[in-house]
Amino acid sequence: MPENTILGNVTSDVISDQQFEYMRLISQIMQDRKRGDKPVAYIRTYGCQQNVADSERIKGMLEIAGFEFSETVDDADFILFNTCAIREHAEDRVFGNVGALKSLKRKHPQIVIALCGCMEQEHIANKMYKSFPFVSLVFGTHSLHRFPQLLYHTLADGKRVYERDNDDKKVYEGIPVKRDGTFKGWLSIMYGCNNFCTYCIVPYVRGRERSREKSLILDEARQMISAGYKDITLLGQNVNSYGKTLADKPTFAQLLHEIDSIDGDYWLRFMTSHPKDCSKELIDTIANGTHISKHLHLPFQSGSDRILKAMNRHYDRKKYLDIVNYAKEKIDGVSLTSDIIVGFPGETYEDFKETLSLIREVEFTSLFTFIYSPRVGTPAAKMDDPISAEEKSKWFRELLDVQEEIAAKRCASMVNNTEKVLIESETGKNGELSGRTSGNIIVELKGDKSLIGTFQNVKITQARNWILKGELV
Ligand code: SAH
Ligand code: SF4
Ligand code: F3S
Repeated sequence: MPENTILGNVTSDVISDQQFEYMRLISQIMQDRKRGDKPVAYIRTYGCQQNVADSERIKGMLEIAGFEFSETVDDADFILFNTCAIREHAEDRVFGNVGALKSLKRKHPQIVIALCGCMEQEHIANKMYKSFPFVSLVFGTHSLHRFPQLLYHTLADGKRVYERDNDDKKVYEGIPVKRDGTFKGWLSIMYGCNNFCTYCIVPYVRGRERSREKSLILDEARQMISAGYKDITLLGQNVNSYGKTLADKPTFAQLLHEIDSIDGDYWLRFMTSHPKDCSKELIDTIANGTHISKHLHLPFQSGSDRILKAMNRHYDRKKYLDIVNYAKEKIDGVSLTSDIIVGFPGETYEDFKETLSLIREVEFTSLFTFIYSPRVGTPAAKMDDPISAEEKSKWFRELLDVQEEIAAKRCASMVNNTEKVLIESETGKNGELSGRTSGNIIVELKGDKSLIGTFQNVKITQARNWILKGELV
């Protein structure tokens, strides 16, 4: 692809040769700084798959710079925390875990400790930079493509490097990737978010929405499929608005269909889908797909129209239920999952009951449930929030109880079915494996670990809450 292709209002750049030169220079410097036989990096990732995908690119660059990877900080020469800012709890964990590295750095001063990711919003980045003088490198999500250069300066100049860039008009291609999995993999199709839901920090830390060029996504999908990936998840904060920044405005349904047309034995998933842009065309594409999993993760956040409006979600309960009913009608055995926020500012028990009634009506297979966490800089953080934390926790537990009942009922209805299952891991219990159905439901079964990474037909024999038990057919 030529450099600086204009894609509508966003440009797509190939990572510069200069960055590869920095990777080479880092490898030279590390020969004198490493503690063991080879330079070792420890990367810890918090938050969503977007961050996981970013960490895989950081690992790709570090691998070219000669690093091996470790699961613990003990023997690491380079330690990086890729942070998440979505809720206070996520941030607290980062503060606690970075703080714990102080004594390691004192013992081995040549170690480089770095922070990146979504916590690099101005006020937090400043706080981290000040609170942790032993952290030598801090950079935000927009500087990922310049990571080799930043690390080189940290190593070569012996000064702390602090970089917060706001460059969200570009998509960077050609960054090397070292994927964590060999049969399950992430494929980013777009970055950023334009939706500004009033509770959410993501648009502030990830910048405006920008899509990757379709031909490059298709190339990467082909490479993954021929490398043996069996479960590929397309990533974006709102995949349904894919293509809007591209010159020829392809839709997400078109992209999905074109990837689905690639031959091979694999499943195709995507997340996250925003209900406001979820088209019938998309649901028809899933229904008619060959490889597309029969799973739709469609976060509704709240069942109350009043709260949805205050959240700036741009759909109401009726529109949500219309999409869900269309999906149920078209996609045989569709598995629906969602995200929910409990205790948004101003939410009453009456509003919350609307959320409960919606989950009863839809019968989700599983839910990701969160208690509202105020984020500095978002409009919701300034709204009146009279309900106590105890009360919100009570509602939250009520929600979990209702969902447990629904999930158990749904799982029980699958007993005696034969399902195609991707075997993913050992459960840790003697001779037991764990896998997932196309609808993303966990199935446990007896089998040999050589089956990990393969598709198997499994007869469902039992349902335990939201987990299925089965036998190889
Ligand atoms: N782009 C996705 C969501 C990404 S964040 C979408 O719009 O569907 C994942 C989930 O975190 C959100 O769906 C929401 O349920 C939750 N979340 C985001 N901000 C939050 C906050 N301030 N407090 C609690 N939960 C939050
Ligand atoms: Fe956050 Fe809303 Fe964007 Fe999702 S769509 S990332 S919840 S602002
Ligand atoms: Fe967290 Fe950033 Fe994802 S805030 S949820 S890691 S986009």
